[in-house]
Amino acid sequence: MEKRNFRKLVCLLALSLSVSPTLAQDGLKDALGKHCLIGTSLNQWQSDAQDAAATAVVRRHFNCATAENCMKMEVLQPAEGLFDFRVADKFVKYCQQNGLKIIGHNLCWHSQAPEWLFTDSWGRPVSKEVLKSRLEKHIATVVGRYKGQIHGWDVVNEAIEDDGSWRQSPLYKILGEEFIEICFRAAHEADPDVELYYNDYSMSKPGKRDAVCRLVRNLKAKGLRIDGVGMQSHNGMDYPDLTEYEKSIDAFATCGVKVMITELDLNVLPNPEGFGGADINQSFELQQKYNPYTAGLPKDVAKKVEERWMQFFRLYSKHRSQISRITLWGISDANSWLNDFPVPGRTNYGLLFDRSYAEKPVVKNIINLYK
Ligand code: XIL
Repeated sequence: MEKRNFRKLVCLLALSLSVSPTLAQDGLKDALGKHCLIGTSLNQWQSDAQDAAATAVVRRHFNCATAENCMKMEVLQPAEGLFDFRVADKFVKYCQQNGLKIIGHNLCWHSQAPEWLFTDSWGRPVSKEVLKSRLEKHIATVVGRYKGQIHGWDVVNEAIEDDGSWRQSPLYKILGEEFIEICFRAAHEADPDVELYYNDYSMSKPGKRDAVCRLVRNLKAKGLRIDGVGMQSHNGMDYPDLTEYEKSIDAFATCGVKVMITELDLNVLPNPEGFGGADINQSFELQQKYNPYTAGLPKDVAKKVEERWMQFFRLYSKHRSQISRITLWGISDANSWLNDFPVPGRTNYGLLFDRSYAEKPVVKNIINLYK
């Protein structure tokens, strides 16, 4: 070998050795992936593969993804009988190309439902029979289209109030609690192999916890399939109460279903009085006192936020035999829904990657916890 080429080779080797420790560094999926799925929600821009920075983070850290919006009913069936799978198809393809198990979110929810669903052409509530057949048709079409490609579906979202009573949504008002089994049955018929989940927020509340356990037991008693319960976990600095939250993890596991943390984020800002939970219809006027960190998080606050993340992950790690998936509700602070919920126009810091997709220091601590 020529001397010049030999020197080049030595330089290249030295260079690769100096960068390889960074390249070889573990991502979240290397550490947590031994115990559970670790996922993120993807927005349309990301699943259309228009966001290279997002894809780099996705490939390194996640093995699972949930559609943030593109599989909701108002998107998939904007008018009766008119299905639009363009964005959802791209989401599925993106997941397949990037080694991500796919979570379908969701089949039945009172929010982000198309306007036509609950009414007839005069705007009057439809009958039981009509709503049942509309739900069944939607679920058969959507689950059927992606049969064999989806790991699990959030079949019903947010049917129960915090006190354990049924949410008085049009679904419940028209069909009563039967709407739950209608949806689970239809999903199972359309894809007998896919996992099926019930998903909700504020799952630490005792009333809701008991009602969800009842729901699981009732479905099972009727011979219907339910594989898991999703605890959304839109958490804050002083909620949920960790003892109650832990009780819910145990309670759901005891019902014989997988426990999943399905929409994890951390609202770090001061919130208006009266705010609680994650009902997307809640909204408060923007005031400066609710948006104090527009120029970045002060160091002492960032430390507290880091500690709060670790409180949650210590709990997840302790319950690793019960928790089958942890999904973050977004990748970077830049496009988290928490910038607009429950107060529109805030600068929030609710995720594990900052506005330029750089990993926050807490990511290493989470990885070390699971190693
Ligand atoms: C949110 C999305 O993140 C937003 O982009 C959208 O505007 C509203 O819905 N519970 C759920 C999710 O089950 O579907 C919601 O997602 C957040 C609360």
